[in-house]
Order: sequence, then structure tokens, then C-alpha cells
Amino acid sequence: MITPDRPSPADTGPAIRELGSGDRRAAVGVINTAAGWYREFLPPEELHTPEMDESGWDAEADRMTWWGAISDQGLIGVTGSEPIGDVVLLRHLYVLPEHQRSGVAGALIRHVEETVPDPTRMIVAGTYTDNYKARGVLEKNGYWPAADSESVLRTYYDIPEDRLVSSIAYVKAVGSRGR
Ligand SMILES: CC(C)(COP(=O)(O)OP(=O)(O)OC[C@H]1O[C@@H](n2cnc3c(N)ncnc32)[C@H](O)[C@@H]1OP(=O)(O)O)[C@@H](O)C(=O)NCCC(=O)NCCS
Repeated sequence: MITPDRPSPADTGPAIRELGSGDRRAAVGVINTAAGWYREFLPPEELHTPEMDESGWDAEADRMTWWGAISDQGLIGVTGSEPIGDVVLLRHLYVLPEHQRSGVAGALIRHVEETVPDPTRMIVAGTYTDNYKARGVLEKNGYWPAADSESVLRTYYDIPEDRLVSSIAYVKAVGSRGR
């Protein structure tokens, strides 16, 4: 069980905190459990099982910050933020199935938005074109399909070609927020 270091008020959703190597196993568990959803719409040859292993999690930790959503039941959602120039990539957004549709992903997205470094112009998120859950949560949080989606994906993502052709990039401009 992971203890939140910054509990949120009960009515504002889960606590969000940065994850470290001690969270690796739980985080990979969340990712691979939530990624079971891909079997619903991806052809078998495009499935990567597991979606992520522990060495993959470490490799991602070298280039981005992992964030976790913590409830009284432990880690229930994860995401990552990766600054590249004046863009931040919102990556690996996963919520355990039994906690979905209760605002956990939205809380993670908002946390990433609130912690982007200056100067960030835009947040970019890539997902499968057929992933209506991810597209729905992105749109609900103010993200829009990029006009030049393939170009955005090729610029910012190091993903295999099979994933690229079945993916779409979403973008959201970052305001000054008075900083
Ligand atoms: C996509 C995902 C992260 C959303 O997490 P979540 O915590 O349920 O999202 P939130 O509760 O913050 O937002 C809910 C919104 O997401 C969309 N959504 C989530 N689950 C959905 C479902 N089963 N059917 C349709 N829309 C869904 C809707 O827009 C929904 O808003 P609504 O409830 O008002 O209709 C979660 O479904 C998940 O982990 N999926 C598996 C992994 C995945 O696809 N990750 C995305 C990788 S890019």
C-alpha cells in the first residue's frame, strides 16, 4: 500500500504525487491491467503483451516524470509528463478499470497541466484512433485533434510504425496562468 504524501480533500479526487522506483511494480501493474482494454479494439498482431515491463518503466523514468493517483486503496492511476522544448507530452495515461469514470484520469491530466515548466506552449497527447475512452477523456479536458496529427506524432513520439498509423495526436494550448 502506498501512502499519499499529500492527501487531497475528499471532494477533489485522488492525491497525485510523483512516482519513484519504489512505485515501479505497482505502476507497471496498473499499466498492464488497464491496457487489457486494448484487446477490445486492437488486432492481435498489434497487441504488445505486456504493455510495459519494469525495465521499460525505468527507461521511461529516465526521460520523463511519472505521476500517480493514490486512493486509500493504493495506486489507482498513472501518467507521465515529458518536456521536449516548449512542448510537454502527456504519456501513459492508465487508470485501473474499477476506478475508471470517476475523474481519476482528469485529475492526473490537470496535475500535469499545473506542473508544466516555463515556457510550455502546448501539451500533446497521442492515443489510438479507436481508443474512444482516451479520446473522450482528452476532449473532456479541453484537448483537440491536431490538424497535422501524423506530423506531430512523428516529431514527438518514438513509436513503432504500426502504432503510428493507428494513432492520433491531441493538443492543448497552455495559457500563461498568470505566471
Ligand atoms: C482512458 C482512461 C485513462 C480514462 O480514465 P478515467 O479515470 O476513466 O477518466 P475520467 O473519469 O477522468 O474521465 C471520464 C471520461 O473519459 C471518457 N471515458 C472513460 N471511460 C469511458 C467509457 N467506458 N466509455 C466512454 N467514454 C469513456 C468519457 O469522456 C468520460 O466522460 P463521461 O464519464 O462524462 O462520459 C481509462 O479508461 C483507461 O485507463 N483506459 C485504458 C488505458 C488507455 O486507453 N489509456 C490511454 C492511453 S493514451
